[in-house]
Amino acid sequence: MNTLIHFASPQIPLLHRGKVRDSLRAPSGDRLIIVTDRLSAFDSVLETAIPHKGAVLNGLANFWFEKTAHIIPNHVIKLIDANAMLVKEAEPIKVEMVVRNYITGSMLRGYQKGQRTFSGVTVPEGLTKHQQFPAPIVTPTTKEESDREITPENLVSEGWVTKELYDQMAVKSLMLFAVGSKLLAEKGIILVDTKYEFGLLNGKLILIDEMHTPDSSRFWSAEDYAKNPETVEQMDKEYVRQWLIANKKDGQYPRALTPEVAQEASRRYLAIYERIVGEPLPTAEPETADAPGSGRHDARARLLANLVAAGILKDAWVNIVMDSPADKDHCEKIRQQFEGYDVFTQLRVTSAHTNGEAIAGMAEIWNTSIEPGVIIAVAGLGSALAANVNVPVISCPPYKDYAELAMNLNSSVIMPSGTPNLTVVRPDNAAQGALRALNLPRLRQQLSKDILATKAKLRAADEEFKQL
Ligand SMILES: Nc1ncnc2c1ncn2[C@@H]1O[C@H](COP(=O)(O)OP(=O)(O)OP(=O)(O)O)[C@@H](O)[C@H]1O
Ligand SMILES: [Mg+2]
Repeated sequence: MNTLIHFASPQIPLLHRGKVRDSLRAPSGDRLIIVTDRLSAFDSVLETAIPHKGAVLNGLANFWFEKTAHIIPNHVIKLIDANAMLVKEAEPIKVEMVVRNYITGSMLRGYQKGQRTFSGVTVPEGLTKHQQFPAPIVTPTTKEESDREITPENLVSEGWVTKELYDQMAVKSLMLFAVGSKLLAEKGIILVDTKYEFGLLNGKLILIDEMHTPDSSRFWSAEDYAKNPETVEQMDKEYVRQWLIANKKDGQYPRALTPEVAQEASRRYLAIYERIVGEPLPTAEPETADAPGSGRHDARARLLANLVAAGILKDAWVNIVMDSPADKDHCEKIRQQFEGYDVFTQLRVTSAHTNGEAIAGMAEIWNTSIEPGVIIAVAGLGSALAANVNVPVISCPPYKDYAELAMNLNSSVIMPSGTPNLTVVRPDNAAQGALRALNLPRLRQQLSKDILATKAKLRAADEEFKQL
C-alpha cells in the first residue's frame, strides 16, 4: 500500500506542519488535522513512512475522545477519513498536562541524578527504574520553543493559565488518565504516561490535540512489565529505535528504514490498534476477491475522495498565475470558462523577475498537492513555472492586437529543454485544454457531452439553414 507522508493542497491554507501531523484551515473555518504516516525517533522525522501509522493514531485518538466525552467535551467534529479529523478551532492553552504513573524517560534520568521535585511534585525516595508511583502525578510543562518543566504556581504567575482553569485541567487530566489506564489494563497494556492539551471554546474548557495515542503516550506490555520492570520497552517505537541504534554509522542514526523494518513497525502499530479497539483497523483489512484494488489501500486516493465527499476540497485545482495585477481582467476571462465544471480555481500573482523566490513556495504546494491540478500562466511566467513544477503548465498570453501577439508568442513557444510549457492563444481554449489535462473521468464524461452538444447545435443549424 502507499503511504501518506505529506499533505498539501492549494485549496486550503496550511496552519502548521508538526513532526507527524499537518493542520489546515477547512473552508468552514474549522481545523483539519491530517495524521500522516511520518515517524519521529530521536527527535527527528525519518524519511521512511510507516504504512497505516497515521490511521492507527487518528483512529485511536477518535476512539478515546468518544470514550471520554462524558468527562470533558473535546474538539472532534468528525472523522473525515482514516487519516483526517475535522475539529473545532479552540483558543489553545499553552500548557502540556503531562500525567505519569511510572518513573521513566527524562524523569528517571533526573531522578537518578538526585532530582526529587518535578514541576512542583515531590516524589518518594528509593524509587527503582520504572517503578509505579503511589498515585498518578501531573507534571505540567509550558508549550514553547523548548518545553519547560514548571510548577502550577508559576504557570499562573507567568500568565500561561488562570488558577481556576489550571485546577480544572488537573482534575480532568487525572480523570482521563484513570479511564485510559483502566481500559488499557483490561487489554494487558500499561498506560505509563501521557499528555493532554486543552483549549477554550466560547470560554469553556475542552480537550484538544490528540489523546492516548502512541505519539502522546508511553504504552508498556503488562506481561513484559511483570517479567522484568527494568527491561520493559515502549510497545510501538522501541523496535524502530533499537534498529536505529544498531545501525548507527559514524555517530549518526540512519535517516531511512529498510522496507522490512517499516513493515514490521507497521505490523506493531496495527497490533496495538487492534488490541485497544478490539477490532482490526478498517482501512488495513486485506483486499478481498470482490473488492480488489478497492482504493482502500491507496491512502492518498481514499483521503482525497473523503475530503471531496465532506465538501472540504474539490477534486482538482486550476491556478491562473499572472506576473502583474494589470493582467487581472485577462485572468478573470479565463477563470469564467471553468464555471459549471466544479473545479477549484484561483488567481495568483508572482513575477519571475521581481519575486522569483515566491515561486518556490507556490511550487512546493503545487508539486505535492493531494489532488491533480493545472497551471495557466499569463504573460512571461510560463517558462519559469514549467521548469519548476510537475503539473501541466499552459501559457495563455494576453495581447492587444495581432502584432503584439506575434511578438509574445515567440517568447512563449520557443522554450529551452526541460521547460514543457504549452501555449494556447484563446482564453476559452486554454481553459478547455486545462480541463482535458486534468484527465478526470467525471470531466471526460462532461466534456464528451459538451462535444455532442456542439455537434447537435451544428446539425440543427444545418437543418434550419438548408430550408432557407
Ligand atoms: N482544536 C484545536 N484548536 C487549536 N489548536 C489546536 C487544536 N488541536 C491541536 N491544536 C494545536 O495544534 C498544534 C498541533 O501541532 P502538532 O502536534 O502537529 O505539532 P507540534 O506540537 O508543533 O510538534 P510535534 O510534532 O512535536 O508534536 C499544537 O500546538 C496544538 O496545541
Ligand atoms: Mg504536538
